[in-house]
Amino acid sequence: MLRVRNLSVGYGAEPVLEGIDLEVKTGEFASLIGPSGSGKTSVLRAVTRLLQPLAGSIELDLEPNDIGFLFQDDALLPWRTARQNVALGLRIRGNAVKEAENVADHWLGRLGLGVFGDRYPRQLSGGQRKRVAIAQVLALRPKLLLMDEPFASLDAIVRTRITQELLAWVEQEHMAVLLVTHDLEEAISVSDVVYVLSQGPRAGIRARHEIPIPRPRNLLETRRDPCFAPLLTTLWDDLSAASVTDDSTQ
Ligand SMILES: Nc1ncnc2c1ncn2[C@@H]1O[C@H](COP(=O)(O)OP(=O)(O)O)[C@@H](O)[C@H]1O
Ligand SMILES: [Mg+2]
Repeated sequence: MLRVRNLSVGYGAEPVLEGIDLEVKTGEFASLIGPSGSGKTSVLRAVTRLLQPLAGSIELDLEPNDIGFLFQDDALLPWRTARQNVALGLRIRGNAVKEAENVADHWLGRLGLGVFGDRYPRQLSGGQRKRVAIAQVLALRPKLLLMDEPFASLDAIVRTRITQELLAWVEQEHMAVLLVTHDLEEAISVSDVVYVLSQGPRAGIRARHEIPIPRPRNLLETRRDPCFAPLLTTLWDDLSAASVTDDSTQ
């Protein structure tokens, strides 16, 4: 569904990332983890064509409309109600107002926000705004979902609840996902495969690990799976090794 080969990305001539190979198959949940500043967001910018690669290729075998985005800062428009925000993408795709708002109400209801359709973003909590953002994405029925630390701003309880809900949607709809995160435990809990990015400059993929925890998953129960603790140690070692290499080159 998404195949990145030998990708180099940078903001000048000097690459931030080099030789990146990664793949997300249909229905697969992939995560990309790495330290802050290693270039995780830059990978997503390249995939979404906001950033022209210096080298390499990005093959996406689906239509642009089949890709959904969920980013850290919610992109809700403050002057539109929750319903109008969710309906916006459908309006842009040519649906009539009434039809788009009916679909919006349906998804707001499924995310437990049925009574909040008329509220403006400032009248909602951080967790509720995040749910509106999720409704906005799901209403467009993406086949591939790209996420950049989407829940980082939420407190631990709300974050766990919303991640669990989203995980259930992804499993039910059989969506492919590429999640960018610096949270190792989150990456293990939700993913089928985790890619570890080394520290920059010229960061690369240090390791790829498959996560053999059965689905459907319960976020908290995944931590009790026998493979969880060893995987956490492995990912941590991968990241530490990446930092040590950098220190020695300075
Ligand atoms: N617009 C930009 N112009 C120049 N350098 C940038 C820009 N955006 C990011 N960078 C640099 O690229 C590197 C990777 O950034 P980023 O992809 O945001 O990392 P991450 O998401 O892993 O924290 C960092 O060193 C950052 O300073
Ligand atoms: Mg980032």
